[in-house]
Amino acid sequence: MAEEKKQPNPKGNNKNDIIMTIASKRGFFYPSAEIYGAKAGFWTYGHLGTRLKHGWENLWRNFFLGLSKSYFEIDDCNIMPKKVFEGSGHLKHFNDPLTECSKCHFRFRADQLIEDAMHTNVGGLDENALTKLIDDNKLLCPRCGSNLMHVRWFNMMFEMKVGATGEDIMYLRPESAQSPYLAFKREFEALRKKIPFGLAVIGKAFRNEISPRQGFFRLREFTQAELQIFFDPDKINEAENWDFVKNYKLRLCLAKDLKEEKITEITCEEANKELKIPKFYAYNMAKVQQFYLEILGMPAEKFRLRELDEKERAFYNKLHFDIELNMDTLGGFKEVAGVHYRTNHDLGGHQECSGENLEVVIGDKRFIPHVLELSFGVDRNVWALMDLFYKEETERTLFTFPASVAPIEVAVYPLVNKDNIPEYSNEVYERLGKEFKVFMDDSGSIGRRYRRQDEIGTPFGVTIDYDSLNDNTATLRDRDSMKQVRVNVNDLIPKLKKIIAKELEFEKAGTLVVKAAKEE
Ligand code: GAP
Repeated sequence: MAEEKKQPNPKGNNKNDIIMTIASKRGFFYPSAEIYGAKAGFWTYGHLGTRLKHGWENLWRNFFLGLSKSYFEIDDCNIMPKKVFEGSGHLKHFNDPLTECSKCHFRFRADQLIEDAMHTNVGGLDENALTKLIDDNKLLCPRCGSNLMHVRWFNMMFEMKVGATGEDIMYLRPESAQSPYLAFKREFEALRKKIPFGLAVIGKAFRNEISPRQGFFRLREFTQAELQIFFDPDKINEAENWDFVKNYKLRLCLAKDLKEEKITEITCEEANKELKIPKFYAYNMAKVQQFYLEILGMPAEKFRLRELDEKERAFYNKLHFDIELNMDTLGGFKEVAGVHYRTNHDLGGHQECSGENLEVVIGDKRFIPHVLELSFGVDRNVWALMDLFYKEETERTLFTFPASVAPIEVAVYPLVNKDNIPEYSNEVYERLGKEFKVFMDDSGSIGRRYRRQDEIGTPFGVTIDYDSLNDNTATLRDRDSMKQVRVNVNDLIPKLKKIIAKELEFEKAGTLVVKAAKEE
């Protein structure tokens, strides 16, 4: 089948603009409430984006809940009582530094404003140090050029009044993590009083970000996928499956090497012995890295585990590595997830604030379990899929998504809309639809249809033509190589499964089709 030639980037737009255009035009995501002008930091997932997001979430769920028989998922409310955030410390500490223009009164996130102007990392500095940097470097309001006011802290939680009196103050949760801490006592009892055990949540979190920018990256309403693992702190240097990871090499960017962006490749065993990273922590770092490199198939050089020093770490963390991916659209490595050792900060805080005893008794020991948290921002990971798998070729643009996350796995193309070909195509569509996410693409030239599916990352296409009616074969097309093989329709499902599982090379799946020069 001939393929239509097209310049992918005729206007020379940058990658960010191109992806955003494809995302909104094709139905991945677009600003929420767009017809009313939209608000920064709120986005709608369209029909393709919802599938991409669910695809990622399902991979995450299968992989991380599959790490132990004692890991489970729970689901909870987004609105929580004020007391929860007194106990967790968010009311006091969950702040970003804010500066305001003395004239136009526009408000900015002070650390971002300084970083943009001076190209330096100011994470962890207090309000006085940030104010001094603004004053010393004569930084002015980026909108109107007037002086900026003293930096102060701004709490990022959304407060709400619940009930008719308006006196009951509640908050939208700023992280999904609090749900497992609140459920801990019940689940510990229900799960036969054993640790370690893990509780995961895939759910919404809400943050009143001062200046949500970078398009789809810093949001005010977003989804997190987080796993809280409750364990005995005396056993932090033990990991059940250590032998499986001890020789696995982690890609670390240590705090001392951040400026030079140096990567240290070091085995888990070496990280434990030389860097004193506890085995339980190193094991989980390895699993997170394997998720990105082996399950999602991201290139190793785009991935790093970045250590945060004491000043940069979140207020609840004792040991903190962020997972960062190098994205062209965001100008370098950016955080998409984190491995956090939260100690007994949260359970301890909730015990104190609620008066409930959250200690456990294991053998003759009584203690508050510690928590290791694997925390992922789903939307940022969706954006990372769009960035890292986007490709431009001379005649097309495509997303090389793995089939496991692709919104559509197989497109079915009736070559013409007559002579029983639509009916036969429908039959094939129904059969494939039992196993795969399928789409019937029956309008426009065949070359244009291929391009359309490439553009949204559909890995396979099945074309039904006149020969199909005679010999029950179809043309199977591979998105990445654009190669085509002729396959018996009855073999399509098992062959596609094998190709996806990398048990069968695409070219060996059938008789290779030598493309006709023009066939439209
Ligand atoms: N429970 C720990 C926690 O919430 P975090 O580093 O504040 O830690 C975890 O957030 C992840 O959530 C981040 O790595 C990021 O992927 C995502 N995230 C945080 N703030 C976000 C925002 N404003 N918009 C989109 N994703 C965000």
